Amino acid sequence: MTSNFAIVGAQHVAAPRGILQVSEGATKKEEKPRKFQAIRGTRDILPPETTLWNRVEQTAHEVFATFGLGEIRPPIFEATELFARGVGSETDIVSKEMYTFVDRSEKLEPQPLIGSMDVFLQRVKQLYKSGEIPQDEIGLELVEKQWKKVNDLLKGASSIESGAIEIYELIMLFEALRLGGDVSLRPEATASVCRAYIEHNMQQLPQPVKLYYMGPMFRRERPQKGRYRQFYQIGAEVLGGPDAPAIDAEVIEMVMTYFAKLELQGVELSINSIGDKNCRPKYVELLRAELQRVKGKLGADSQRRIETNPLRVLDSKVESEQPIIEKLPRIADHLCEDCATHYAAVKRQLELRGVIYRENWRLVRGLDYYMRTTFEITAAGLGSQNAVCGGGRYDGLVELLGGPPTKGIGFAIGEDRLILSLQESGKAPAQQGRDVYIAWMGDKAHATAIRAAKDLRAAGFSVELPPIEQKFGKALGQADKLGARYALILGDNEVSEGLWSLKTLADGSQQKLTEPDLLQFLREQKPVSS
Ligand code: HAM
Repeated sequence: MTSNFAIVGAQHVAAPRGILQVSEGATKKEEKPRKFQAIRGTRDILPPETTLWNRVEQTAHEVFATFGLGEIRPPIFEATELFARGVGSETDIVSKEMYTFVDRSEKLEPQPLIGSMDVFLQRVKQLYKSGEIPQDEIGLELVEKQWKKVNDLLKGASSIESGAIEIYELIMLFEALRLGGDVSLRPEATASVCRAYIEHNMQQLPQPVKLYYMGPMFRRERPQKGRYRQFYQIGAEVLGGPDAPAIDAEVIEMVMTYFAKLELQGVELSINSIGDKNCRPKYVELLRAELQRVKGKLGADSQRRIETNPLRVLDSKVESEQPIIEKLPRIADHLCEDCATHYAAVKRQLELRGVIYRENWRLVRGLDYYMRTTFEITAAGLGSQNAVCGGGRYDGLVELLGGPPTKGIGFAIGEDRLILSLQESGKAPAQQGRDVYIAWMGDKAHATAIRAAKDLRAAGFSVELPPIEQKFGKALGQADKLGARYALILGDNEVSEGLWSLKTLADGSQQKLTEPDLLQFLREQKPVSS
């Protein structure tokens, strides 16, 4: 049966603000095009700052490789359910801060459905086969029941017009069923790495599997210094193998080695153990009971957390709550024997590695998957958002996400904060300089300059070759502004003599060199880009 119901929506698309509508009459006042700004909580990272970002990332690649880690690049968005289950649906991150949307692909929008009903049905079939329409109860209902409805509709349609309207309604129904499912921009990457571990059967590889990642994460938090809505993390996860305390200690040693290599200032490591499923629930109940007794003295947030997650009360920064929290029972006194032994061994292992730490019994972290070891690292120059790295052990997470029982531990560094701290302590390059600025005049000199630029760049030097002729005075001024170390001066004389003038901009000295001598001389100097 071929049915040609054309669905032509009378769509009126308003012209975007600021677009000139000249054709509507010359009398209309011209609007200024809207100026766009990066969305609140996001920002552009510009040169020369990007040079520092690259150095920080390159150093991570190098240091992590010396510990035997390989890089993983998970997608930026995943099923919302993954984060709800992994990070915890009651956490702030999942309940308040995720960027979630319905990924409906492009296929079921009403506009493109101009054509035959068969084409439409064919598409629905394809979508179901490819898994785009979930192959679960909702999907089945769609394809089996709605399919029938489509057919009935087709049979019963009295005229093309009424059929078109009913099919349009049907499409709306499909849309209402949220085809494609909920997805979220990743607020963190641990859940994604565990998902990938399961999906790619990594438990069959030699264990533990050691992975690291870097890239943007998204949380709808209140933006402030060191806190953004799109921010960047450099993280690592060690999955599988035993839960030996030496693994916890080596992971921490690695991040401390990395920070030392970057000469990060004011680095302080805090550690804690938050127990496991044997001892933590009992401690949480004890804590809840104690908190109930002092409830009246606590603020609204902490009062709410007595029910939802009493451990998070320990995180509170509210001044008036501090003396109350200090008197609460401490988890270290309530660890089961296995957890206590594990924690003591982690500390010993850190000492063997010369890693200096501070114990902080209130370090509970804001994600649900942690057990036993938790840690956080702070650095100088960051104000109130001074945690530059957070991590811990999460032995049950892979299982929770449908995988085999698997141990796990990892951390994530806030790259934006790491960069801020390095900048505050003067570790940032001031400007992305050039090795050589080529000041040329005349057509012959231009040809030589193009060749010289090519040769110097091939030798690894950063070269600025002006696209148009400039007077030498102006060219030297420009070279200075760009922070060039040398100006190579090429005029007709230099080209015909085969002796090129090289000016050292720092002291103004000048020398004449043949082409091979120039290359030799520069090679003996260090390129700025290295
Ligand atoms: P997290 O503590 O939520 O842990 O984040 C780790 C680090 O990311 C923080 O210490 C901070 O430096 C940075 N960070 C978090 N939110 C922001 C933000 N809005 N703006 C700037 N920086 C931010 C996790 O994400 C866990 N996945 C870490 C982990 C890996 N645990 C085990 N494996």
